[in-house]
Amino acid sequence: MSYAIIGFGNIGQALARAFARKNIDVTVASRRPPEALVPQVRAIGPTVVAKSLQEALEADTIILAVPFGEHREVAKALPNWKGKTVIDAMNAFPVPEELDGLPSSAFVAKGFTGAKLVKGFNHLVAVTLAADPIVEGGHRVDFLSSDDEDAIAPVAALAKQLGFAPVKLGKLNEGGALVHARGRTWGQLIFQDLFKKEQ
Ligand SMILES: NC(=O)c1ccc[n+]([C@@H]2O[C@H](COP(=O)([O-])OP(=O)(O)OC[C@H]3O[C@@H](n4cnc5c(N)ncnc54)[C@H](OP(=O)(O)O)[C@@H]3O)[C@@H](O)[C@H]2O)c1
Repeated sequence: MSYAIIGFGNIGQALARAFARKNIDVTVASRRPPEALVPQVRAIGPTVVAKSLQEALEADTIILAVPFGEHREVAKALPNWKGKTVIDAMNAFPVPEELDGLPSSAFVAKGFTGAKLVKGFNHLVAVTLAADPIVEGGHRVDFLSSDDEDAIAPVAALAKQLGFAPVKLGKLNEGGALVHARGRTWGQLIFQDLFKKEQ
């Protein structure tokens, strides 16, 4: 498996820290040229490498950590997303009108034709996501949801590798609704910093 994080702001850097903590290779990219990311990348750890967006999108698994409205720009960067897993770590808040009542991740999925999309790593504030998810007595919970049942397992495996305890919520408009912004309200599980004894 190869991994890339698109967006290297608060959430992108928090996730890069999680990969670095476990010595897992990850590519990071933003709109800026890769050289501009190097100082922060170096500060995080040697398994993190900055590349151009196009190069980063060669990874099998792509984590979206850009402002919600920018996901379309990322989607346009590849003609076809077949074979890729996209992890949506974004929150659409407040929800833009054009979502047409869809959960934001279902709306995002429409843009990434052919990809398997899983919502995850979106419900914690960046400073919490950046912290070691293994604490005395447990593993920090990462809620995962997807309309593609098969897509969740590899993302759950990644979450475990990073030290989180994945909790599967099911489909985006069912259990996944708990980790989506709705209108001007947050899903009930957003910002809940929970721990499980076992992964
Ligand atoms: N902040 C939180 O605590 C938090 C918590 C949960 C979820 N989220 C969600 O996570 C996402 C990112 O939030 P953030 O706080 O990390 O934002 P941020 O600090 O503003 O960082 C956004 C990053 O996205 C990059 N970017 C923007 N447009 C791009 C594009 N078209 N292609 C490639 N890279 C692009 C920016 O790159 P440049 O600098 O090169 O422009 C920047 O590195 C948002 O959807 C937010 O809702 C945030």
